[in-house]
Amino acid sequence: MLVCLTTQSLKNALIKKRKNHSIGFIPTMGALHEGHLSLIKEAEKANDIVVVSIFVNPTQFDNKEDLKKYPRTLTQDKKLLEQVKCDFVFAPSANDIYKNNIHSSKFTFGGLEHAMEGKFRDGHFDGVGTIVKRLFEIVEPTNAYFGEKDFQQLQIIKKLVASFKIPTNIVGCEIYREEDGLAMSSRNTRLTKTHRAAAPFIYKTLQEAKIRFETESASRVDTWVHEQFEKHVSLDLEYFEIANTNTLKTISRKRKGSKYRGFIAAFAGKIRLIDNIALN
Ligand code: PAF
Repeated sequence: MLVCLTTQSLKNALIKKRKNHSIGFIPTMGALHEGHLSLIKEAEKANDIVVVSIFVNPTQFDNKEDLKKYPRTLTQDKKLLEQVKCDFVFAPSANDIYKNNIHSSKFTFGGLEHAMEGKFRDGHFDGVGTIVKRLFEIVEPTNAYFGEKDFQQLQIIKKLVASFKIPTNIVGCEIYREEDGLAMSSRNTRLTKTHRAAAPFIYKTLQEAKIRFETESASRVDTWVHEQFEKHVSLDLEYFEIANTNTLKTISRKRKGSKYRGFIAAFAGKIRLIDNIALN
């Protein structure tokens, strides 16, 4: 496993390998967990070379405190990566990747950017679009792997690739969960004991919402979810939305033949958690 700390060193290393080899790429912000490793294992199956990037991207954080406190565990991450088949780790500095100009570009993603996370995290998807586009320019991956926990991000990246005609296949991978159902996330390590114990409630509520969605209207399910969180003492619901899987537009009424997902963002103390589920 080769660790590259600059864009140039990664490019130089990949130039020799690129010919006749497929590249599987997993962009991450580090603090790696089983969820990331499951993406790497998927990449391993379908590619000759696996590249993992570790970069806490400043331009996608709307909250300075969240950026400051985001766990940075490079030494431990490298140890974990030694246990799977990772050929290259790319861990650049912000100045290297942004060429000393740490700003995001503006994007439109056909309206996908206005829904859910876009409403609550100002500039977030401009930051994600900027970094993912830049990373794709550097790595030029054949396939790139993203978890469905950030389902909106996944849809936006598919749109990004289509708009800029980037020749990378985007692979969405199922959400990887703790035994109690909590979606794996690097932010989980920052939960207090009480909040960690409360957090599985998010997925339990989504599961129950899915069952109710079979027989109840979208607005009834919506009301039911809000009521559950109102009663909960340690979790604060930021949003629950039932949205069309492709457009991510909130629905008030189900239509035959359409696919829907339920999305939750909730605060456990200061930690913001997101999760989602396919409803049909
Ligand atoms: O999902 C993440 O960890 C980040 O948003 C990503 C895709 C690595 C871009 O910084």
